[in-house]
Amino acid sequence: MSAFWHWFIIIITLGFTAAMVWLFIATGRARVPTGTNEEGEETTGHVWDGDLRELNNPMPRWWLWLFYGTVIFSLIYLVLYPGLGNYQGVLGWSSEGQYQEEMERASAEFEERFGELLELPLEELVEHPDALRMGRNIYAHNCSTCHGSDARGAPGYPNLTDDHWIWGGEPEQVFTSIYDGRQAIMPPFGDALGDQGVTRTAVYLQQLAGQSVDRTMAEAGRRHYEQQCAACHGPDGTGNVFLGAPDLTTGVYIYGGSLDDLRHTIRHGREGLMPAQRDLLGEGRSKLVTAYVLSLSRNGDE
Ligand code: HEC
Ligand code: HEC
Repeated sequence: MSAFWHWFIIIITLGFTAAMVWLFIATGRARVPTGTNEEGEETTGHVWDGDLRELNNPMPRWWLWLFYGTVIFSLIYLVLYPGLGNYQGVLGWSSEGQYQEEMERASAEFEERFGELLELPLEELVEHPDALRMGRNIYAHNCSTCHGSDARGAPGYPNLTDDHWIWGGEPEQVFTSIYDGRQAIMPPFGDALGDQGVTRTAVYLQQLAGQSVDRTMAEAGRRHYEQQCAACHGPDGTGNVFLGAPDLTTGVYIYGGSLDDLRHTIRHGREGLMPAQRDLLGEGRSKLVTAYVLSLSRNGDE
């Protein structure tokens, strides 16, 4: 924070506290001219509207001491903890520091409990009930918002329980997808193909996926496909795991397989992003959640 705000906060905080103390001392000392009313109660001597008298009810003592107590508390607090501008406090506490400390403690505990387990190769972790239990937990907290609580995905988010892997289904490939993240870029072809070209290509894709379609349309689409799409999705349409270009022959889609979905994908392109978990989960947790994800497709539909 700049020097201006640093001093601004200090002056406002301490000035306000001092002003409050002064106010209490000053009003406490002020002599109240007292009188009594007809019932014999003490009044301040002020009279309104002819007969309204203000009773003299000073703040109780304990309340006053409580007030001074809070002032002393806040002054001690401001010496120990950050609160006055850039001043860090003699304890050197910071929310970030506390967070770091808690994270470190959690990691140490995690290492202690799972260290031995994490020595195992992924192939064995997939069979290990403790690893899978932990992996399921990690999944629920970090992945279910996008891939769904049952891991079956949603439009734009791949299903993780089937055997279709965009980026490859070997344990190491799945681990990389999770640990380093993946960024897919399908460029838009609306301008290059025009509306008719987009539709014909989409029809060809439906044929590729085994649907029966208009043959002339599909044939025209095939030519577009060979020119524009084969480089990434492969001449036979089976995709490319290095580019994250999906297999277009299976009928399983991330973004939907209706004619409209396909046209939208071709016309506007797509950019799927799987966020890297490296910083969030670290290697150990990424491994456990990988084992859990692998177990889902291996156990098939239970
Ligand atoms: C530069 C490489 C590249 C080219 C060229 C390319 N694609 Fe793609 N395509 C991708 C990638 C990568 C994805 C995955 C996008 C994502 O996951 O967000 C993709 C996704 C798709 C999808 C969505 C699949 C699904 O599962 O929902 C369709 C359909 C598709 N492409 C069709 C085509 C067609 C048709 C062409 C030619 C007109 C084409 N692509 C050209 C790389 C390419
Ligand atoms: C912000 C949303 C989001 C979160 C959170 C997320 N993912 Fe993903 N994930 C995606 C998207 C989108 C893709 C597809 C990328 C693409 O288009 O190729 C993906 C792809 C993947 C893939 C590759 C799938 C394949 O077919 O190759 C795996 C594995 C995966 N995610 C696992 C996980 C796990 C495990 C977690 C939790 C630790 C997680 N994801 C959290 C959005 C997310």
